[in-house]
Amino acid sequence: MRGIILAGGTATRLKPLTEVVNKHLLPVYNKPVIYYTLEKMAQAGIKDVLITTGAEHSGEFLNLLRSGKEFGLQISYEVQDEPRGLSDAVSLAEDFADNKKILVILGDNVFSHDLRPAVEKFKQQEKGAMIFAIPMKNPSQYGVVEIKEGKVVSLEEKPKNPKSDLVQTGIYMYDNQVFNLIKTLKPSTRGELEITDLNNLYLKQGQLSCEIMSGWWVDIGTSFDELYRANKLVAEKK
Ligand code: G1P
Repeated sequence: MRGIILAGGTATRLKPLTEVVNKHLLPVYNKPVIYYTLEKMAQAGIKDVLITTGAEHSGEFLNLLRSGKEFGLQISYEVQDEPRGLSDAVSLAEDFADNKKILVILGDNVFSHDLRPAVEKFKQQEKGAMIFAIPMKNPSQYGVVEIKEGKVVSLEEKPKNPKSDLVQTGIYMYDNQVFNLIKTLKPSTRGELEITDLNNLYLKQGQLSCEIMSGWWVDIGTSFDELYRANKLVAEKK
């Protein structure tokens, strides 16, 4: 499998911290945020990782992470010219994926769960997609997953009236249908190709599974409080 880390976007919710510094390079305790995702890729047994970023910050990622040797990874870089959404960023990885299955992680997610068992299971699976969910107190800020009898029955992006407290995290696994499916997506009302719309295509085909994560998970891009919570959790672990 190949790994893709999405590290683009404008990070408006964290301004002024992100006025000149990219969100994925902000500190969480003793490391830049993106280090945690790279470590999770390595722990999952992934060797080749593509990082997608906006043009204005791509040089900084290259300066910081270089070839990826420090992480035991081979890192490639791709530029997303405009912030057209997470599914658009995934589409940049078509050549890199080389028909293999992919593990996609949003570069602003920090979490404790070990992805390796799920990755091993997904490798054996013939086709489909897998998402990772965890219960949160304020689900309407995220994608919300509804599960009945162990099966995903609905997935909604930031719903006003969430059907459950299970949120879709920024960790996704896809088979090689993913690039053709992205080509059929239409921009949402905010003008972006949404990751939730992509996952819903797999759900419609009856090919979306969901793993419930253990431990803790933070999307540091949500708010200053969540960024602070990630710092505390990582520091306490140390
Ligand atoms: C994105 C997804 C959302 C998911 C979240 C997890 O939201 O669209 O479904 O719950 O990542 O990090 P964003 O953070 O881009 O608003």
